[in-house]
Amino acid sequence: MAYLALYRAWRPQKFQDVVGQEQTVTAFKNAIAQGRTVHAYLFSGPRGTGKTSVAKIVAKALNCLNVSGGEPCNECSSCLDINRGNFMDVVEIDAASNRGIDEIRELREKVRIMPAQGNKKVYIIDEVHMLTTEAFNALLKTIEEPPESVIFILATTEMQKIPATIVSRCQTYQFRRITMAEIITRLEQVAESNGIHISQDAVAIIARRSNGGLRDALSIMDQIYSYKGTVIQKEDVIEVLGLVDDIFMADLIEALLAHDSARVMNMLDTALDQGKETQQIARESVIYLRDLLLYALLGNKADLIAANQSHKDVLDKQKGKTNQEKMLMALRKMMDTADRLRFSEGNRVQLEIAFLEVCEILSDNTTEPQSEVRLREAPVEDSGVKKGRPKKTEAREGLWKQILYKVKEKRIPTHALLSQGSLLGIKENTMFIGYKKGYKFHKERMEEQANREILETAIKEIINQEMEIQFIFMEDEQYNDIVVKKAIEIFGEEVIELKD
Ligand SMILES: Nc1ncnc2c1ncn2[C@@H]1O[C@H](COP(=O)(O)OP(=O)(O)OP(=O)(O)O)[C@@H](O)[C@H]1O
Ligand SMILES: [Mg+2]
Ligand SMILES: [Zn+2]
Repeated sequence: MAYLALYRAWRPQKFQDVVGQEQTVTAFKNAIAQGRTVHAYLFSGPRGTGKTSVAKIVAKALNCLNVSGGEPCNECSSCLDINRGNFMDVVEIDAASNRGIDEIRELREKVRIMPAQGNKKVYIIDEVHMLTTEAFNALLKTIEEPPESVIFILATTEMQKIPATIVSRCQTYQFRRITMAEIITRLEQVAESNGIHISQDAVAIIARRSNGGLRDALSIMDQIYSYKGTVIQKEDVIEVLGLVDDIFMADLIEALLAHDSARVMNMLDTALDQGKETQQIARESVIYLRDLLLYALLGNKADLIAANQSHKDVLDKQKGKTNQEKMLMALRKMMDTADRLRFSEGNRVQLEIAFLEVCEILSDNTTEPQSEVRLREAPVEDSGVKKGRPKKTEAREGLWKQILYKVKEKRIPTHALLSQGSLLGIKENTMFIGYKKGYKFHKERMEEQANREILETAIKEIINQEMEIQFIFMEDEQYNDIVVKKAIEIFGEEVIELKD
């Protein structure tokens, strides 16, 4: 028999099997028992918390021939057919796979046909936020006046992407993250009935790692089981997950301390692609920065959360690369971000911008007395742009410094993005700003309207003139050529030392 992934084998088949989500489950059992269901439901909540599972149980309960107290029997022909996916009146549509246009169109036609096999036709539309606008509109028309015997259950991980017109026509249920304790209990139950001996601390690591999603918890255990067999210790979990986490975090902080924002972005990219959650990364970095700060303050007396003896060498080196004030600022920033990410599932850009800001905070050599910096850097006269006859290269650098300074006053994240580029030159009304190839993220973010506007305003305030801005990659030979020529026209021969 083919091996069935644990999370599939352990899909809850009855309301009573669902872990957590008590309010939702109770509401449905009562509504079904009392025949008070409505025609459209919207389930929202994090991945792997039971949305699809509950939708299927609802579909079964509505069609079960022996439903009792709102629970399906799982034995009658309807229940069995639904479990096997053979029941004509329960239709699952995955909006993610084809964005649903054809299905929704078809649905509009078919929805008027009476149920063939059962009581109620149930349409389960998964990942509904992925529907195109056209499909949403078609869906809206359908759920506005559905026939008696039809029920829609829409499910999404991204509630904020669902049009208000849809939300207002549905009864909504918020699925919650499953608690650590509930996940641990479930993992132990699944382990036991599969003959897996797993230690308590191993279970705890998996539960923590899965961040409230039961599917993730089960599939992590599955992975470890398939590598390590039926006896699983903490070390096995760490090894298999490559609890690269610690190492990852140390490297990430290292890159931050080195002000290498391109590397930071690449590391985030990789981690997110590997399925790490934004909030998890934010939280882990809070813990790391907190450990680093306490270690810098108290040395061996510090009560460290994540770091152990073997990390202290790393912490020793890292604490010398910054000061406590900056660390504290960085820590605050990440705490804020971790907090905010709790309410905006998977917001990648928020995390990236936060890390850019932290990079900025840690690299800023001018944080100490803000007011003095202002006096030293701000006056236009000092840079020689308007006054005197400084060398042209100096003029360019002076101007760039002023631009950065002005932008920073307006918005720190924009400054963080801009500061990784360099001013190549100005030709007529166009200013050329170059980025090295690895800085694709920075360049693309700067090209976005909001950041571009801040830069344009800053420039206008400094040179009193509107400028078009072009962002280019410096390695791009062709561009280099043009820009070098342009730079020469403006600043003279000595400008052509383009960085590699
Ligand atoms: N509340 C839960 N109770 C019991 N098992 C659960 C629960 N949530 C998730 N699981 C486990 O995870 C698997 C996937 O759950 P399900 O498909 O219902 O999640 P989902 O919320 O629809 O996730 P997604 O948003 O990724 O579609 C189930 O087969 C089951 O093994
Ligand atoms: Mg689902
Ligand atoms: Zn039944």
